[in-house]
Amino acid sequence: MTTDTNRDVSTVETDAPPDSRLEEVLDGLRRPDRRISSKYHYDERGSELFERITTLEEYYPTRVERALLEHRMPGWIADLCPATLVELGAGSAEKSRVLLDAMVRSGCGRAYVPVDVSADFLAATAAALREEYPGLVVMPEVADITEPLDLPSELPHPRWIAFLGSTLGNFEPHEATSLLTRVAGRLRSDDHFLLGVDLRPGRVKTVERIEQAYDDAAGVTAEFSLNILRVLNDEFGSDFDPTGFRHRSGYDVEAGRIETFLVSIRDQTVTFPGGHVFDIAEGEAIRSEISSKYDRPTIDGLFTDAGLAVDRWIEDEDGFYALVLGRPTR
Ligand code: SAH
Ligand code: AVI
Repeated sequence: MTTDTNRDVSTVETDAPPDSRLEEVLDGLRRPDRRISSKYHYDERGSELFERITTLEEYYPTRVERALLEHRMPGWIADLCPATLVELGAGSAEKSRVLLDAMVRSGCGRAYVPVDVSADFLAATAAALREEYPGLVVMPEVADITEPLDLPSELPHPRWIAFLGSTLGNFEPHEATSLLTRVAGRLRSDDHFLLGVDLRPGRVKTVERIEQAYDDAAGVTAEFSLNILRVLNDEFGSDFDPTGFRHRSGYDVEAGRIETFLVSIRDQTVTFPGGHVFDIAEGEAIRSEISSKYDRPTIDGLFTDAGLAVDRWIEDEDGFYALVLGRPTR
């Protein structure tokens, strides 16, 4: 049962410019199908929880992507000799080291630009990489990749822009198209786009296997999901009680994606400073994440709309995951 009685009784006058991040969150919570952008998972704790997820038996994407990178990147990089690697949503850049090692070994690598919203975590990643790769210029950029991408102009070509981990799947289809369009707009004809994508169920990969990856036995994914409420409390001063919600996720076959919700375990009221009050009924769900799964036709369509073409596509033999190398068409 839902009440949908969002009470917006603004009582606080402020000279501060309108905070578009807060407005985005409030707009999402005011919808009849309440939702929060998944980028709010990632404060330092959220990034650490994601790192724990990547080590879970149930969470296959990191493992399978790493194996594909180790198998293919040395050859692709020796072939195409990228001087700069820009990585969107770099996180800990754990798997990126496979690319950086190959760039250094081939003698092509000059610069690495990890881009992420999780500022503290990104700073720690950049510091570690500077130590490990003294021959590379490491230039971290704290940025929201749903917004225009500002890259330092002096970065040498050929450049690769990488977007690993199937993070593309966390964006709505229209956001994914704009993001890819902006990526394409930053590529010269000798540059490439490297994308990692989790695939739809198939011959070996079952819906159940995908669902297990988003609801692990140890409850780390649930903790990661609920962390989004702590992030909102820290950034916006709201008073969500994370213990008042439970994690629920499931695969929507038609949409081709995992959808994750935080379900209210009782009637409760959540308040944001400025008098924004949300009455949330027991059983009411807030969508906190989508994790879209892909197939070749869907990627071809997204790429075409964005001004990209698939140059190379590889996947593991069981069809769990794919790496796609794209080039600009315009
Ligand atoms: N690429 C790593 C990390 C994936 S986790 C891997 O493959 O393991 C997703 C990463 O994207 C996190 O580090 C998160 O902080 C970042 N992220 C999520 N939404 C973002 C956004 N809108 N802008 C920039 N970074 C974002
Ligand atoms: C970062 N992103 C691609 C992960 C995913 O699989 O959608 C985030 C995640 N959510 C739950 N587990 C992992």
